[in-house]
Amino acid sequence: MIDMILSRRSCRSYTEKKVSEDNLQTIVKCGVYAPSGMNSQGIQFCVITNEEILNALETKMGRSFFYHAPALIVAYCAPDYKYAQQDGSCAMTQMYLAAHALGLGCCWINQMKDMVDDPKFADLYQQLGLYHQCIVGALAVGYAKDEPKERIIHDNRVRFIK
Ligand SMILES: Cc1cc2nc3c(=O)[nH]c(=O)nc-3n(C[C@H](O)[C@H](O)[C@H](O)COP(=O)(O)O)c2cc1C
Repeated sequence: MIDMILSRRSCRSYTEKKVSEDNLQTIVKCGVYAPSGMNSQGIQFCVITNEEILNALETKMGRSFFYHAPALIVAYCAPDYKYAQQDGSCAMTQMYLAAHALGLGCCWINQMKDMVDDPKFADLYQQLGLYHQCIVGALAVGYAKDEPKERIIHDNRVRFIK
């Protein structure tokens, strides 16, 4: 587990190989099992593998904002959910690690959140059941094409008070 946490990276280029339904189920299950404030379990998940929809999202955006990954898992909740960011981030982290443990690459994609109020995307969001929802983040998932760049961890971020 510790090795998984320390070796996890974000992936920004993917092969065309599809991710199996089993693997996607496992990843999303790890999101579902994440801790939640007062055990409210308010985060929901939308797993998108439909090529037409994935292409439409990138085409409307005008760039490959999720790097042509073959799957996108959107973590979202009701707009008034109290622990949206906290619970959503826990779920996203667990899915990040699950994907890594399964030998898959993944990356947090913020733009799905930013586009939620853009009228240009209203029809697609309606189709996805995400219209007027609070989107915490989306996880692009696929098979990594390239090795990640060297990681630089900033120093002096930890203090022990003994
Ligand atoms: C809240 C949040 C939003 C992020 N949004 C994006 C994004 O929209 N696109 C992207 O390529 N990476 C995104 N990332 C990934 C970060 O850029 C990445 O975690 C950071 O550069 C450290 O690299 P690592 O994940 O390989 O350790 C996001 C990460 C977090 C936690």
